[in-house]
Amino acid sequence: MRLNFVAALGSAALAIGLLSAIPVHAQDADAGKVTFKQKCSMCHNLTPGAHGIGPSLLGVVGSKAGTNDAAFHYSDALKNSGKTWDAASLDVYLTNPRADIPGVKMTFVGLPAATDRANVIAFLSTLKK
Ligand code: HEC
Repeated sequence: MRLNFVAALGSAALAIGLLSAIPVHAQDADAGKVTFKQKCSMCHNLTPGAHGIGPSLLGVVGSKAGTNDAAFHYSDALKNSGKTWDAASLDVYLTNPRADIPGVKMTFVGLPAATDRANVIAFLSTLKK
């Protein structure tokens, strides 16, 4: 009886622990916007067709790699990568772009922190053409 009570308390505590942990790991588009400004905006803008050093990233989530910004001259490496940009493929790419796609023109070392990647991807996902 007493043991069951302790076990019940234990799982209740675990459930509360799990619940309160969720917001900490949730993707945060607002934080991602800040990361975008700091790490990506020197090369990427979010205006359709108006690219900088890199292509416009407006609407990139869900697009086939190397097709989203028609005005941008993409590398063959990116165009032939066969990727479609979703949360999973962007996570791999943004960890280390040039390891993911050898020959890609994006000279960016990558975002080492999984949270930064998840937040930037959440931010990009909010932007539709
Ligand atoms: C130093 C400039 C530079 C920085 C910084 C940079 N990028 Fe890029 N990015 C590029 C270039 C150039 C390309 C095009 C690569 C090619 O054609 O090979 C690109 C391509 C991409 C693509 C593929 C776009 C498509 O239409 O297929 C994504 C997604 C992307 N970058 C996301 C990011 C994100 C997110 C960040 C910030 C965390 C970032 N980039 C930082 C220059 C940069």
